[in-house]
Amino acid sequence: MRLRRSRCLTCYWHEGAFVVHPHPHGTSMELHPAAAEILTAFDEWSTPDEAAGRLGHLTPDTIEEAVAALVDAGALLAQGSTAARRDELIAGQWGAWMPEASFFHYATSDVYDGHPAGDAPAPPDGEAGDPAGAEAPAGPLPPLFTSHPAAPRVLLPRRPAELRTPLGEVLYDRRTHRDFTGAPVSLDTLAALLAAVFGPVDFIDCGRGALYRRTSPQGGSRQEIDAYVGVLGVSGLSPGWYHYNGLLHALELLSEGFTPQDAAHLCADQSWAARPAFFVVLAARLERMSVKYPTPRAYRVCLLDAGHLGQTFALTATALGLGPAQTGAFRDSAVAGRCGLDNTGHTPLYVLAAGHPEPEARDAPPPAGVAAFEATTLVAP
Ligand SMILES: Cc1cc2nc3c(=O)[nH]c(=O)nc-3n(C[C@H](O)[C@H](O)[C@H](O)COP(=O)(O)O)c2cc1C
Repeated sequence: MRLRRSRCLTCYWHEGAFVVHPHPHGTSMELHPAAAEILTAFDEWSTPDEAAGRLGHLTPDTIEEAVAALVDAGALLAQGSTAARRDELIAGQWGAWMPEASFFHYATSDVYDGHPAGDAPAPPDGEAGDPAGAEAPAGPLPPLFTSHPAAPRVLLPRRPAELRTPLGEVLYDRRTHRDFTGAPVSLDTLAALLAAVFGPVDFIDCGRGALYRRTSPQGGSRQEIDAYVGVLGVSGLSPGWYHYNGLLHALELLSEGFTPQDAAHLCADQSWAARPAFFVVLAARLERMSVKYPTPRAYRVCLLDAGHLGQTFALTATALGLGPAQTGAFRDSAVAGRCGLDNTGHTPLYVLAAGHPEPEARDAPPPAGVAAFEATTLVAP
């Protein structure tokens, strides 16, 4: 039998043990670190004897035993097997995203299958109605709101957003804007937007205390995402970085000074990013989610939560007459630094922006015409 190392394989140390973790099929196994060397010998299809020839210093018994364990775990695949074909397919599909993206995706997939009742990780689907095994671990819960008591504060105006534009209009008017007039956004407008997107709407009893809800659905109502505001042009606010304290409806000044050049730099040198009036960095405080959901799958929910907030931000900004923008391309460590985050348990996920949009956007893509459609495969032939 000829064997090859799975292309979809990640090895790491966890709690002192060396772990060989094939995905999506296969199981993670704690093995002696010599397993890494044995796996290296199966870079290409080889029989165990051929591999043993490359591993002269290991005894045949050690190799035989390790090969059996690695085959069982799915780390070594048999030539011509279904698993080997699927492994090739996955490696081809995920391509340059491997191993980071595919490992996270598959290692956190199917986590609700095959667990005896009561052993399954809790799906992050709300405090009520979680299945057996979803009991929140005992111990103190982290604070619901982030606060910077020592920071100078601006209590924001409390005039609620005028959101009377029909939903249909807002939905179809929403566009990503990259051209802005440069006119400052009023403090009233920024305050209304922050309250509508990030402020608490109501409080619910989760059985162990209160949680709050926002206008966006958020996994388990954990509200792990905080909003940090980078101000370039907002009347009444000096340029700088602020934290939005949703409990107090206040901006807490973290650092003074912020320039259009700095904004573009933070957004991976995208030129449009020098033009919005303000930015909102969505940063996850992981502990708020992980204290309830120890499964690493819950990190997916943090990303989904950020997407929900991003969409609510875009729609609300549109309804308020602003042009929204967003980017996943930003300098993570530098953005974290501007927000005063240590970037360990409190880390930026998404960067949003808005300003008064130019009526005639220079950077807007033209509508697709005949030439564009000619160059496009609409459906597989
Ligand atoms: C998660 C996400 C990340 C994005 N990142 C960028 C970006 O880095 N730079 C950019 O110019 N636009 C970015 N966009 C905007 C998209 O290019 C835009 O949404 C898309 O072209 C469709 O246009 P529309 O938003 O006007 O419908 C991003 C959008 C989303 C949802």
